[in-house]
Amino acid sequence: MYSLNSEKKDPSKSLFEKDTTGECKMLSDCGYSDTAIQYYMEKPYMGSLPDADQVSEMIGSCGDTAKIFLKIDQDKITDIRYQILGCPGAISAAMATVDIVKGKSIDQARTLNDGHVFNKLVDLPAKKHHCIQLAVKALHKAIDEYKNGHSDLKDVGCQSVCSAPLDCCKNNTIQSS
Ligand code: FES
Repeated sequence: MYSLNSEKKDPSKSLFEKDTTGECKMLSDCGYSDTAIQYYMEKPYMGSLPDADQVSEMIGSCGDTAKIFLKIDQDKITDIRYQILGCPGAISAAMATVDIVKGKSIDQARTLNDGHVFNKLVDLPAKKHHCIQLAVKALHKAIDEYKNGHSDLKDVGCQSVCSAPLDCCKNNTIQSS
């Protein structure tokens, strides 16, 4: 697990000292907790997993996007990465989400809600609370699609109910040619 608060007396001190752009102070002034700022600045789980078992994408009501990569072994989430095109609140929430659900079963992870992530972040500005939903909904969508047997990376046939029939058909065409 990503190690937050390694400097117990003042977890954000070194981060603030290293911040030459003033971004940390700006976020702090807006109401972001030190924990949320640290997740945003260090982005420990930002990126992709080339061997992911599930890749899903969610577009928020604001237009920001979250792409999530899950590595799953025997129904346990062993690794996660997020690619976030969005605000600091969404990035902090995604990083905190990983620390909460990594190592959990997919059924346990599916029960994650916004409150769990908010508590992990300690605090966010009130107008940024909705940004947590993007990270949480992306995770829920990925788990649902994984359980339904749909993945952009798997050789799956078309199902009677398919969330992305065109993608499935395209995959089958490419693989059979
Ligand atoms: Fe879109 Fe924060 S404003 S996720």
